[in-house]
Amino acid sequence: MSLKLEELNADNLQAAVSLSLKPGQEKYVAPVVHSIAQAYVTPTAWPRVILDQDQVVGFIMGNFDPENEIEAFRAGIWRLNVSGEDQGRGVGKFAVQALADEARSRGAERITVLWVPGEDGPEKFYLKCGFVPTGEILFGETVGVLKL
Ligand SMILES: CC(C)(COP(=O)(O)OP(=O)(O)OC[C@H]1O[C@@H](n2cnc3c(N)ncnc32)[C@H](O)[C@@H]1OP(=O)(O)O)[C@@H](O)C(=O)NCCC(=O)NCCS
Repeated sequence: MSLKLEELNADNLQAAVSLSLKPGQEKYVAPVVHSIAQAYVTPTAWPRVILDQDQVVGFIMGNFDPENEIEAFRAGIWRLNVSGEDQGRGVGKFAVQALADEARSRGAERITVLWVPGEDGPEKFYLKCGFVPTGEILFGETVGVLKL
């Protein structure tokens, strides 16, 4: 595998918005097109396409908003979608680490993520990546934090 993040552009947009998950996972993350629309109106959003060689295999969106009154929204993962076909190959973990590197370069000491609880949801993945639940629930979602 040769993984990298890339900014959205005219060449990768179509593949990014066409990403599909495994059946039943749609309740855990918004469609990529929705996230891109949110990024368009959110200056602090950090949307990136995940490529393996030159193939789009996923999408991650961070939010870096150090002044946000809610601590969980100051630096963290807002969205993460890995194509159903490419799950289980380390794509998600790579994207989390790349976002953590970006956060570190901006001076953050921790990143957060909110996930929808559920047996087939992303909780085990985030725990595997080192996130620790803070005990907080925001908008019905579990808050996890990763110290950098
Ligand atoms: C959750 C998601 C991003 C994980 O991406 P992925 O590329 O499949 O994960 P990786 O292959 O990088 O897995 C990293 C580690 O987590 C583990 N892991 C991943 N999903 C897991 C699961 N459902 N249950 C248990 N362990 C899991 C892997 O075994 C791997 O462990 P290892 O480091 O010991 O090898 C992906 O499944 C996805 O897009 N899900 C649907 C959307 C979603 O829920 N997004 C999160 C929104 S907050």
